[in-house]
Amino acid sequence: MAHPTAPLHPDIESILVSEAAIHQRITELGRDLKRLYADQEITVIAIMNGAILFTADLLRQVDNAVRLDCIRTTSYGSATESAGTPKLVHGLTLDVAGRHVLIVDDILDTGKTLSLITGMVRALGPASVRVCVLLDKKGRRQVPFEADLVGFQIPDKFVVGYGLDFAERYRNLTYIGVLRPPA
Ligand code: IMP
Ligand code: MG
Repeated sequence: MAHPTAPLHPDIESILVSEAAIHQRITELGRDLKRLYADQEITVIAIMNGAILFTADLLRQVDNAVRLDCIRTTSYGSATESAGTPKLVHGLTLDVAGRHVLIVDDILDTGKTLSLITGMVRALGPASVRVCVLLDKKGRRQVPFEADLVGFQIPDKFVVGYGLDFAERYRNLTYIGVLRPPA
């Protein structure tokens, strides 16, 4: 963990989810995964880049056999508002037919990204598809979508850290913080 008295990044207005709370919740999510999958093998699809840190910590909480693939979508560019329809930029390399697939993302916002990806995965004939997100901004949904596992419900605020970015920065913050509005 970062030093407990490490100063807040100057661009961050407030901490929404602390490093300790993230790690505590990930331990619980690991137990939930174990309950859901028992000893089955899991094919994990992490959505880059945002889900990389969360996925790395989450997967170390389960002792199941795990296959890991990453896909990339894009919709935000450098803005804090979605630019519309997400596009798949980098596709799957692992086969998912007959597999238990767990899709992992950093945040569920409008729901567009995850409905695109779950639809694409379901069309490939997996044994099961589940979705796990660290954060859920329920109030922002534009298409109906529920994740099977959610770390934290959060209010409609643009957040960064622990994988989440603004214009590709702040992903390495150890906590989830609210970005200070530009002066
Ligand atoms: P959706 O398709 O609108 O659900 O958007 C999901 C994607 O938007 C996430 O994977 C994030 O990359 C990005 N996103 C949504 N809200 C935030 C936020 O508050 N901070 C940073 N990225 C966000
Ligand atoms: Mg993302």
